Amino acid sequence: MSNLRRPLVAGNWKMHGNRAMAQQLVTALRAACQGSAVEVAVFPPALLVETAVSAAAQALTVGIQNISQHPQGAFTGELSVAMAQEAGCHWCLVGHSERRALYGESNQDVAAKFAAAQAGGVTPVLCLGETLEQREAGQTEAVVAAQLKAVTDNVGVAAVAAAVIAYEPVWAIGTGKTASPEQAQAVHAFIRAQLGVEGEVTRILYGGSVNAGNARALFSQPDIDGGLVGGASLDAQEFINVVQAAEQ
Ligand code: PGA
Repeated sequence: MSNLRRPLVAGNWKMHGNRAMAQQLVTALRAACQGSAVEVAVFPPALLVETAVSAAAQALTVGIQNISQHPQGAFTGELSVAMAQEAGCHWCLVGHSERRALYGESNQDVAAKFAAAQAGGVTPVLCLGETLEQREAGQTEAVVAAQLKAVTDNVGVAAVAAAVIAYEPVWAIGTGKTASPEQAQAVHAFIRAQLGVEGEVTRILYGGSVNAGNARALFSQPDIDGGLVGGASLDAQEFINVVQAAEQ
């Protein structure tokens, strides 16, 4: 990990939790985050953001899992960047594979959401990754490059380099199958190379079945700057152990 890039470990709670859980989990994390060299963030369900923000007391940051690309209007069920920002969100996940696969978000939708988040002062965490079928067909780099290019074509390389990227191979998400540190490093280096010299300061997180047991080996790779953690972020001690693995 380059020292230009402060490690970032982010917990994606997906559709889990309630107010009591958010309060307890964030309070436990807050104590562990104080004075850490690692930046810690959580992405609770939108209705729990304000609980998490107030429990975080600025020791860690909070993000939202999805936003609309539109500023306002007749979009029933959607949430705007301004609403997320007002609720205290520092970050927004954009292009998570579950959004792409289950809600049909295209590369163009992802690019529009990325632009809307950044313009509204919420830092996007842009998720990229290939399916197992694509990996087995030797298409990993082509898929990731196309996902990235849709966004750089829309906002420019510098804007993407100023955000955070999460490489999350779809076959590793929630499956217990992690990419090996070498497999992940190869794709991280490829993504960084796509961003050219501007990518030297970009934090690129790995996601997909990260836990306390595999985090250290992943985070010791030169182009892996932290993690986007799903299941293992729901347990305070497990997540704190992942954060500590990024401190080494
Ligand atoms: P997982 O999820 O750690 O449970 O595999 C990661 C993610 O989807 O961000």
